[in-house]
Amino acid sequence: MSESYGKKNPALESALSKSTADFYAPAGSDVLSRMDAYYSWVENRIRTDTWLYSRVQTSRPAPVITVRDAGHRQMEAVNFASQDYLGLSAHPDVINAAAEALHRYGPHSAGSPMFMGETDLVPQLEEKLQELTGMEHVLIFPTGWAAGFSSLTGLVGKNDYIIMDRLAHACLRQGAYAATTNIFKFDHLDHEGARKVLASIRTKDTVNSILVVSEGLFSMNADTPDIRKLQEICHEFDARLLVDVAHDLGATGPEGSGQPGIQDMKGRVDLVMGSFSKTFASSGGFIATHSAAVKEYLKMYAGPYLFSNAISPVQTAAALQASRIVTASEGAALRALSLGNALHMRARFSSNNHHCPGIAAPIVLVPVGSERHARLSHGLLMKKNVAAMIVEYPVVPLSEARIRLQLMSTHTIGQINDAVDHICEVLDEVRKK
Ligand SMILES: Cc1ncc(COP(=O)(O)O)c(C=O)c1O
Repeated sequence: MSESYGKKNPALESALSKSTADFYAPAGSDVLSRMDAYYSWVENRIRTDTWLYSRVQTSRPAPVITVRDAGHRQMEAVNFASQDYLGLSAHPDVINAAAEALHRYGPHSAGSPMFMGETDLVPQLEEKLQELTGMEHVLIFPTGWAAGFSSLTGLVGKNDYIIMDRLAHACLRQGAYAATTNIFKFDHLDHEGARKVLASIRTKDTVNSILVVSEGLFSMNADTPDIRKLQEICHEFDARLLVDVAHDLGATGPEGSGQPGIQDMKGRVDLVMGSFSKTFASSGGFIATHSAAVKEYLKMYAGPYLFSNAISPVQTAAALQASRIVTASEGAALRALSLGNALHMRARFSSNNHHCPGIAAPIVLVPVGSERHARLSHGLLMKKNVAAMIVEYPVVPLSEARIRLQLMSTHTIGQINDAVDHICEVLDEVRKK
């Protein structure tokens, strides 16, 4: 990053202004040529070392990683930007299971799950997910995104209602918009806000369905709703609750049961969905339900299930083996390490006068505030060999940019201490600019 800043350096000044929201839905008669302004802005951000996206891994996700940034610079970094909370992608049993599946079934599924694309590993994975969620029926998708999107498009009709936490994941928001125009958002974690919307809908409409949507652990805030309360409110108004446990299942809770387990709600939420792309060392996702009819219906009517190839055998085998570790005593030991790492990191930030919001979880957030400071921190952190995610508007509200650190059980205390110290130095430096 150039030392000169602001008005003395127009390229940097331009890179530090605007956000992706400014380039959303560009106007113009040619659908292919109206992205040029966005492209120039991105190029300028890459040149000024303020572009935090599109880094590629040149090694596996692990506490130390080699990475190439968008400006093609290769570096080694301590890695807090991978979602491999228990470090299972490096586990020899997971790697062997994936390799065996590759040799036995080949690299791809070669068909929709409805047309013979699933291997016999899939029912075994469903069974593990039934155990983890406490739900009787599980449907597996090739991505968590497809599972989230499908849970809404497959079940909610255009006359129905979706009431969602304002910060619910994009797959749920986009699924909601594809399902109905009757969408209401309540303030983050505000179950009383959800109740008010439910009450007002039910005074007018007792005929159509209502699905309330939230997450177990919100990854941009590291916080959790009161799932019991939300579920009770739903039932009070003849509505159903969907909770996305992508970040908490496996990584937290008794036997890896996530926030539903921590809140004594395992098996008591109407509908649960999740992803294998965080703790389960794979990609893929699932919807879990108590109803065999819901599962069967989604197979035919959730677009991404019927019209997309099934989860690959390699993905399935990795997720299956990871889920076996998650539910074994080894999983409990890894979760204890993960929690210890999270508590340690939060305490070290706190002793440096940085308060990390949210609960103790493998996601630790460090508030930065201004988008300019956040973008400047990105290049400085990479120079100090720390790979972290910078999150800024419109993903989070304006002027509430933050650094998101995703911990693995396999991070050492030394790596955490060094990273915290580097981040604190970088934040001090950018705030002086
Ligand atoms: C809360 C949440 N739900 C769903 C997804 C989608 O999962 P996947 O990456 O498996 O498509 C993600 C991934 O970022 C997520 O964070």
